[in-house]
Amino acid sequence: MKHKIAVIPGDGIGPEVIREGLKVLTAVADSTPALSFEFVEFPYGSEHYLKTGELVPEGGLKELSRADAIYLGALGDPRVKPGVLEQGILLKLRFYFEQYINLRPIKLYPGVPCPLKGKGPEHVDFYVVRENTEDFYVGIGGRAGGRSEARLEVLRSIYHVKFDLDIESDRDEIAYQVGVISRKGAERAIRYAFELALRKNKKRVTSVDKANVLTHVYGLWREVFTSISKEYPDVETEFAFVDAVTMWLVKNPEWYRVIVTPNMFGDIITDLGAMIQGGLGLAPGANINPEGISMFEPIHGSAPKYSGKNVANPLATILAGQMMLEQLGEQKAANVVERAVIGVLGEGKVLTRDLGGSSSTSDVGDAVVAKIKEMG
Ligand code: NAD
Ligand code: IPM
Ligand code: MN
Repeated sequence: MKHKIAVIPGDGIGPEVIREGLKVLTAVADSTPALSFEFVEFPYGSEHYLKTGELVPEGGLKELSRADAIYLGALGDPRVKPGVLEQGILLKLRFYFEQYINLRPIKLYPGVPCPLKGKGPEHVDFYVVRENTEDFYVGIGGRAGGRSEARLEVLRSIYHVKFDLDIESDRDEIAYQVGVISRKGAERAIRYAFELALRKNKKRVTSVDKANVLTHVYGLWREVFTSISKEYPDVETEFAFVDAVTMWLVKNPEWYRVIVTPNMFGDIITDLGAMIQGGLGLAPGANINPEGISMFEPIHGSAPKYSGKNVANPLATILAGQMMLEQLGEQKAANVVERAVIGVLGEGKVLTRDLGGSSSTSDVGDAVVAKIKEMG
C-alpha cells in the first residue's frame, strides 16, 4: 500500500535523526513488494517561528489532516522561551488530532549496555501507556498578583484562605495550574492498555498514579481502572504510586508488563524507562489516535548540545518509524526494521557515542539500511 507521511523534522537534532528514519523507511519500502511512501515535509519549528512568528497555522493543520501518519523529529530551541514551541507545535498536534494514547515501549535489546546491575534484555521489556491529552497538560492556569482587580479576584476566590497572602501587596504573586481527568479520557486510555496487554500477551496492567495526595483527579482515575479491569478477568492488575514506581523500575523492571498512567507521570517515568533500555537515543514513542491520524517520534527532545554535529543516535527515531509501520498495518515491514536494528546493535560495530561507539548519526542509519538490504 502507498502511505502518505507528513514529516516534521523540527529543531536541534530533529532533522538529523529524521533524515536517517526516512532512509530506513525508504529502504524497507524498496525491499517490500506493494509498500511505498509519499513523504511531505513541513517546516514547523524554531527557524520557521523565528522567521515568520508562525507555529502551526490553520492551513497547516488542514494539510496535515490529509496524511496517513505524521513523523516528527523534536521541538525546542534555547533561543525560544520554554513552552512556546513545545506547546504551540507538539502539544497542539497531539491535541488537535486527539492522539489520546502515548505508547512507549521500554525494551532492552541484546548488546545494549544497561545501567542496572545484573539486568539484561530478559528483564526489561514492557510498555508504558501514557494518557496523552489530559491531566496537567490541559493548560488551565495562570498567574495572579499585584493590585489589578481581576487578579485580586482570583487570589480572593482561590488562594487567600489557604495561603494567607497579603492580597493587597504587589509582591504576593501566585501561579496555579490545574490538572483535569475526565471519565472518558481515563476510560479510553485504560481500555487501550488492557487491549494491548491481551494483544501482546503481557497480562499484567499496573496503574501508576498519586491517588494518595491528588485525590480528586487520580481518585477518578482509580475508579475507572477498577471498573474497566472487571471486563478483563484474564489480566492481572495492581495499583502503584508513582514515587514508588521510580524505585521499582530500577530494582525490579522485570515485574512490569503494561503500565498505564496519566499524562505527566507518563512523561517522567518514560525518561527513566529510556535509561534502562539504553538511553534516550533508543526510546521511541507513538502518539496514537486509534481512529485517526497518529504521530511517531523519539521520546527525546532536540538535544541542542548535539545539534548539527552528526553524533546523535537515530535509533529512537528509526524505531518510531517501526511503530508507525505497525500502526499503518505494515507488520512485516515493521518486523524487518526491528530485526535490522537488532542486527546492528547485536554486532556492536556501528554505534553512536551514547552507546560507547564512535560512529556518526548517518553511519548508524546506513548500517540499518545495509542490514535491511542483506535481509532482502
Ligand atoms: P533532550 O531529550 O533533548 O536531551 C537530554 C539529553 O539526552 C541530551 O543532552 C543528550 O545527552 C541525551 N540525548 C537525547 N537524545 C539523544 C540522542 N538521539 N542521541 C544521543 N543522546 C541523546 O532533553 P532536554 O535537554 O531536556 O530538552 C531539550 C529541548 O527539547 C527542550 O527545548 C525541550 O523542551 C525539548 N523536548 C522536546 C521533546 C519533543 O519534541 N518530543 C521531548 C523532550 C524535550
Ligand atoms: C515528551 C516531551 C513533551 C511532553 C514536551 C516537550 C511537551 O517531554 O514527549 O516526552 O512533556 O510530553
Ligand atoms: Mn518527556
